[in-house]
Amino acid sequence: MIEEAIVARFRIITIDGPAGAGKSSVARRLAAALGYEFLDTGAMYRAVTWRVLEKGIDPESGDEVAAVARATRLDWTADGELRVDGQTAPPAIRGDAVSGAPSAVSANPGVRDAMVAKQRAVAESRDLVAEGRDTGSVVFPDADVRFYLDAAPAERARRRAAQMRANSEAADEAAILAQIERRDLADSTRPNSPLCRTEGMDYVDTTGLAEPEVVELLRRKVHEAISPA
Ligand code: DC
Repeated sequence: MIEEAIVARFRIITIDGPAGAGKSSVARRLAAALGYEFLDTGAMYRAVTWRVLEKGIDPESGDEVAAVARATRLDWTADGELRVDGQTAPPAIRGDAVSGAPSAVSANPGVRDAMVAKQRAVAESRDLVAEGRDTGSVVFPDADVRFYLDAAPAERARRRAAQMRANSEAADEAAILAQIERRDLADSTRPNSPLCRTEGMDYVDTTGLAEPEVVELLRRKVHEAISPA
């Protein structure tokens, strides 16, 4: 009898969706609930943007920026910490300079190719919840479950403002809403890997749901998909 090859297969759950839909913290908590690791792809684009700015390179200068993306080593530690060229990612990756700049960097096809390759490499050795705008559509189209997490723009602006206030930062909700709408438009109309819902994604509208409810809903859906009754 020919024995069937046992191929180690790691699980991949993806969460796509627009800015401020709560993808990141839902993905982190879902990963913890499932015992999977969390892959924050936005942090990788932010780290590259930070490196580009730190080197004084113009974010619009395509080839130079793509070269930085290829050359920057991005590793995730076992406890989910991003390391950039061997160092803990600096808080500046979440700062204003990086937040104001990333669209030029993340729209760069060379940057995207480099990030997608790094993200797929991570998935070769562990179960993952991967979060980002293209994780289900481009990076892992064969993932076990692909969610598209959405919420009304005004609710997304409210959540982001509440988050900033909780961190003792001043928050102008109208300005945040305008920024979210600009980012949605830029991210959904760019030629390379636009934000989109693709066939087979599980669309979840989180408007009016508290975060623990969203996490529990997704956890149940994953269990149903992976171990059907
Ligand atoms: O989700 P975030 O705000 O941390 O993302 C930072 C930037 O990277 C933002 O411009 C969107 C972009 N991004 C992307 O283009 N593709 C991803 N998979 C994740 C983030």
